Amino acid sequence: MIKRKDLLGLVDASAEEICEILDTAANMKRLLRQGIKKLPHLEGCTATILFYENSTRTRTSFELAAKYMGATTINIAASSSSVAKGETLIDTGKTLDAMKNDFIIIRHPMGGAPYLLARTVKAGVINAGDGGHYHPTQTLADLMTIHRHKSSFENLTVALCGDLKYGRTVHSLIEAMSRYKGIQFVLISPEELKIPGFIRYNVFENQGIPYTEVSSLEEAMPKLDVLYMTRIQRERFDDPWEYERLKDSYVLDTEKMKLAKGKMCVLHPLPRVNEISVKVDDDPRAAYFRQALNGKYMRMALILKLLDEAARNPAKEAIDTTGLEYDRVCRNPKCITQTEQELPQLFRCTDKAADIHRCIYCEQRA
Ligand code: NCD
Repeated sequence: MIKRKDLLGLVDASAEEICEILDTAANMKRLLRQGIKKLPHLEGCTATILFYENSTRTRTSFELAAKYMGATTINIAASSSSVAKGETLIDTGKTLDAMKNDFIIIRHPMGGAPYLLARTVKAGVINAGDGGHYHPTQTLADLMTIHRHKSSFENLTVALCGDLKYGRTVHSLIEAMSRYKGIQFVLISPEELKIPGFIRYNVFENQGIPYTEVSSLEEAMPKLDVLYMTRIQRERFDDPWEYERLKDSYVLDTEKMKLAKGKMCVLHPLPRVNEISVKVDDDPRAAYFRQALNGKYMRMALILKLLDEAARNPAKEAIDTTGLEYDRVCRNPKCITQTEQELPQLFRCTDKAADIHRCIYCEQRA
């Protein structure tokens, strides 16, 4: 259930809620197609778009979504704000809250930043991408595109190809799609960029969802219903040479497309570097530009859903601290606890027998 007015990840969203958001998005699309330029739903609301990383599609589609529904939008780029002077996220959040924001849409390079912000502010917080962790609103765009192409989410073989380690869109999509009957995942990546432990734990171990891990895109191609290509995430590598070595691992071209089913769909969150040849763009199975447009409708629908939740349940739920432990260290250098002043690290035991504890912010093992 999406119980609060935040969207931090999709792990708690039910299949019914996803279906409801898809229906609202289809309505939004219809209204905009009829030439209606302004809807009244967010009149008097303020949405702040607080981005600490670059963005084209996510920023634009959030801004358009909020504006179509009548909100005032404020754009803050970290490079031109007090963040550049060293301000912490908690202080930035408190300042924005004092100015009475309804929503803060945050993109941040550190895992868990939206969670920390949601704990700090009264405004609803939407995660627009946190480091190599999650990107749930991209997943909403992906789901709408898959549904329009395949008419159902059931019995699909879905391949994710490229940077499965740092690709946050991959993590959110796997979590969201794992709730559908008959789903199977094919994970295609170089050894160094395999899916991280928290997704293995949340999805494959905990829910027993079937998956295979392979390194050849060609061999996997004939059985796929959905192929989700991703960019190798250069900005997340500590070693630039490792990026150079891995950057051309997979390129989808017209030759490989000949091996695929006639109804397969190709997705990519974009931007692409060279993972998909531009010649594939004309193939009717290439859905990535439609996917970017669907992001706008799904973000409108999501904001409406969160508004509804906020009206029904205005008080934010306090974080449940029962069973949390303090006496460990998060070793992830890309966790928000590494940069916030005096923020206590907190851990949840996820496997008593094996003594596994995960950071509540970035979900990495302590
Ligand atoms: C993705 C992201 O930011 O994670 N882009 C997006 O939001 N559409 C994918 C990427 O940057 O590779």
